[in-house]
Amino acid sequence: MKIGILGSGAVGKALGKGFAELGHEVILGTRDPKSVKVTDWVSKTGNSVRAGTFEEAAKFGELIVLCCLYRAVDDVFNLAGVSNLKGKIILDTTNPIADEPPVNGVLKYVTTGRESAGEIIQNKLPDSFVVKAFNSIGSPLMFRPKFEEGTPTMFICGNDADSKKKVEALLTDFGWDTLDCGSIEASNALEGLCIIWCARGFIEGQWNHAFKLLKK
Ligand SMILES: NC(=O)c1ccc[n+]([C@@H]2O[C@H](COP(=O)([O-])OP(=O)(O)OC[C@H]3O[C@@H](n4cnc5c(N)ncnc54)[C@H](OP(=O)(O)O)[C@@H]3O)[C@@H](O)[C@H]2O)c1
Repeated sequence: MKIGILGSGAVGKALGKGFAELGHEVILGTRDPKSVKVTDWVSKTGNSVRAGTFEEAAKFGELIVLCCLYRAVDDVFNLAGVSNLKGKIILDTTNPIADEPPVNGVLKYVTTGRESAGEIIQNKLPDSFVVKAFNSIGSPLMFRPKFEEGTPTMFICGNDADSKKKVEALLTDFGWDTLDCGSIEASNALEGLCIIWCARGFIEGQWNHAFKLLKK
């Protein structure tokens, strides 16, 4: 599959490398495809990845990974072109983290109680199929995470059942069990999981954990 990645930070690079290892073709979208941080990554990661503008990544991708700074989403959509995202799955990894620092280990969000980044993004892209995923795990653990306790669980949500099935198949390839938490309204809960995931990091200084749903 052709994967267009909107974001060249740690998440874009981790997922881009994972998709490439699984045999997909990747364009890593950024404002500056010639920057050293991007060209270095491309040369290390192999032939099936290249760098492009946000617009090039958006046009190229049959599936789009949204992994920019949440506060820059409008700029990224303007650069990518909303029409280039029409009819496509948007794998939304974003968390609406505020500029201000965490308070006693608790991340601050720019969203207020009842809204979520996932729902806001789905409203901005009414003709795309937003599936929230990969927002409750650190980038080094996104591809083939290994835990003695077994396979961790990725919590996903979105409005389109078929898109979620496709994302679930990709998550299996990436080494995850999946729990479909329902429609995009569940984003609020999924984005809360990021606060919990980061709390252990801020409080205990450990970032090597993942969530697992225990089932009988
Ligand atoms: N880091 C993690 O482990 C992790 C884990 C789960 C979820 N997340 C979420 O995933 C998303 C990506 O996180 P990240 O750490 O990889 O990167 P990030 O630092 O949050 O975002 C980097 C990307 O945002 C773009 N960007 C920043 N300001 C911009 C602006 N004004 N206009 C256009 N683009 C702009 C950058 O563009 P350029 O490429 O041009 O620099 C870059 O591609 C975030 O929403 C984060 O909350 C992160």
